[in-house]
Amino acid sequence: MKQRANQSNANEREVLNSEVPLERDLLLEIIANPSGPLAEQVMAKADMLRAEHVGPEVHLRGLIEFSNYCRNNCLYCGLRRDNRQVNRYRMTPQEIIAAAEQGAILGYKTVVLQSGEDLTFTGEILADIIREIKKIGLVVTLSVGEREPREYELWRNAGAERYLMRHETSDPDLYAKLDPGQTLEKRVSLLKTLKSLDYQLGTGFMVGLPGQTAETLLADVELARELQAEMVGIGPFIPHPGTPLGSCPGGTLEQTCVMVALIRIFLPFSLIPATTALGSISPQGRESALKAGANVVMPNLTPRIHRADYQIYPGKICLGEEAAECRGCIAGRITSIGRQVSEGPGHNPIWLQNQINPV
Ligand code: SAM
Ligand code: SF4
Ligand code: FES
Repeated sequence: MKQRANQSNANEREVLNSEVPLERDLLLEIIANPSGPLAEQVMAKADMLRAEHVGPEVHLRGLIEFSNYCRNNCLYCGLRRDNRQVNRYRMTPQEIIAAAEQGAILGYKTVVLQSGEDLTFTGEILADIIREIKKIGLVVTLSVGEREPREYELWRNAGAERYLMRHETSDPDLYAKLDPGQTLEKRVSLLKTLKSLDYQLGTGFMVGLPGQTAETLLADVELARELQAEMVGIGPFIPHPGTPLGSCPGGTLEQTCVMVALIRIFLPFSLIPATTALGSISPQGRESALKAGANVVMPNLTPRIHRADYQIYPGKICLGEEAAECRGCIAGRITSIGRQVSEGPGHNPIWLQNQINPV
């Protein structure tokens, strides 16, 4: 008994003091026991590293969900092609640009243009929208899924600086099951293409997917590190009743926060959002993630008339609030935990350094 207590204390010391990567077995134990004392130590360590490497500031990104049409059929997602219950919409380029202008007025420095995989927005149409938004002086992040490398290049040249495309799960068999017709190999290859085009690369994964194990989650962290991702989005899987996974259990706050913490430890300079999905499963979910290593929040800028139709998962927060309300709400939440709302563009510091001193 005493021996076990000594071992446990030694593990806690290892978590808190280690400058070297933690042992694999210890990491797996932490992932498998997200409510245990070691997990708490990991989150405290991640919070320290966050303060040391990226400081107290929390960066806001205004999210514009501009189309819910999608050619894909991901088993987990409410926007999947086969979900006939969805009222599909597409914003016009003018509406998208107007939403970005409103974001700038509200003080956002970055907008995230997100959609299902909707080829109606051709490379050229999206490039024109990006150029217009750049004239407003905003940083542009894209999150429109898998497209041709030449389109990624076109958008980068039009001024987009960041691209978000989660790898979703690092288990290739699970990936193939959950994203029919798609492969992890292709997704990773596209992520590398985006990186080579000098985007700030965002990957990430869901926590609590059916069939996922502690090993899978550790491999998710390792893949994000291998890609040297500048941004890593981690959210709980939330079962959507209109999908084939509707009756599966979802991911928890604790599991998700531990994974946020591990990403901060493995990629100390990364931009990590406290995701809306976490805020949707727990009232203080985003604050919990911010205390476990996260440093970004993505309030909604989508016009209110469309919000209820972009239900990736049920119970999504902020469906009834105006953009200004979300902006005020989120600022209050950030300051309530002793953090500051960033006034700058919030680039990844390593990416920024490489822009100034290209290698
Ligand atoms: N279509 C683009 C793509 O897939 O990259 C961007 C939009 S997609 C809705 C954004 C993210 O939503 C996905 O990367 C996925 O991780 C997340 N998502 C989808 N369904 C979800 C669910 N049921 N629970 C939690 N997150 C989900
Ligand atoms: Fe489409 Fe993205 Fe949803 Fe998959 S996750 S169905 S690609 S919107
Ligand atoms: Fe939308 Fe709180 S962030 S109401």
